[in-house]
Amino acid sequence: MPAAARLFTEHHLMHSQPTASEPAIEVSELVKRYAPTAKPAVDGLSFHVGPGEIYALLGPNGSGKSPTIGVLATLLAPDAGRILVAGHDAVTEPDAVRRRIGVALQETGVDAAARGHDLIVRHARLLGMTRAAAATRASQLLEEFDLAEAGSRRLRTYSGGMRRRLDLALALTGHPRVVFLDEPTTGLDPISRQELWERVRRRRAEGVAVLLTTQYLEEADALADRIGIVAAGQLRIEGTADELKRTVGGDVLTIEVDEPDGARTAAVLAAVHEGGGRVRLEVRDGGAALPRVLARLAAAGLETRSVSLARPTLDDVFRHVVGGHLAHVQASMEPAA
Ligand SMILES: Nc1ncnc2c1ncn2[C@@H]1O[C@H](COP(=O)(O)OP(=O)(O)O)[C@@H](O)[C@H]1O
Ligand SMILES: [Mg+2]
Repeated sequence: MPAAARLFTEHHLMHSQPTASEPAIEVSELVKRYAPTAKPAVDGLSFHVGPGEIYALLGPNGSGKSPTIGVLATLLAPDAGRILVAGHDAVTEPDAVRRRIGVALQETGVDAAARGHDLIVRHARLLGMTRAAAATRASQLLEEFDLAEAGSRRLRTYSGGMRRRLDLALALTGHPRVVFLDEPTTGLDPISRQELWERVRRRRAEGVAVLLTTQYLEEADALADRIGIVAAGQLRIEGTADELKRTVGGDVLTIEVDEPDGARTAAVLAAVHEGGGRVRLEVRDGGAALPRVLARLAAAGLETRSVSLARPTLDDVFRHVVGGHLAHVQASMEPAA
């Protein structure tokens, strides 16, 4: 059985067993279609997120991430499937779900003339807080999100990073147990992105479950405890970043030797000759293989000039899982050059 399929099976087996702590999010066979004849935007998605876990749905544009968030946050009705959020059914108990979640959508459409502080106060009042409690909460969040001074300014004066920090602060207003973040860092510069990641990580430490969507491999790798790769509304593979990388295969050793054409080296190591004195060798465990490689070269009288060890990246996983038939999709997953 291919590794990808094996991970899938293990996932479903785990699903059927009772867990010690109740999942924060549990989705089974979710289907969402926008028109009766259209291909479903979400096509049988199943996954779960535990308390204090950050889960990333990683996929290209059009893979069904936003519709999934919409259904889980009770903003869209599903066509099939069972969705439990914070222990409540999103279809039959939407109000109970809404009281326990925070949401930052991809397109916020917030009034640019509004002021940050006022927006949080208004949101807190909608959640039932007293005027005083709402003002206190707004000050706390603005302080934590480095917006204390900006809070009295209009949103049109905010940078992209400040806007996304405010979106996250708004999502956290009611102390939710489950937070949905739809592409929280799209369009941000690397520093702003890392600042936002750090604030998401703090939620995990408080036991909050975070479901985020992203099309950045790097973001899923850096932030998520587990990652589900989605394409065409389906979960193709799921696991920790390391688990996913391991499905691709082993480490890559690139060795340069003092041999003009590298032919003998390639033969001695049974490696792929890459031109000049350079050969490439795929091994299961690069660290373990390295001493043996060096010893074999020395025994053959070949002098090693340099060795580099590369681990598979999530990019490799994505190529592997989504595959060549979706090459156009894969191209959009490349980090911006
Ligand atoms: N409001 C909508 N009306 C009709 N179809 C939609 C709507 N939103 C999404 N879809 C369909 O669902 C697919 C996936 O949704 P999309 O929002 O593009 O996913 P993602 O968030 O992963 O980019 C789209 O390609 C489109 O066909
Ligand atoms: Mg989207």
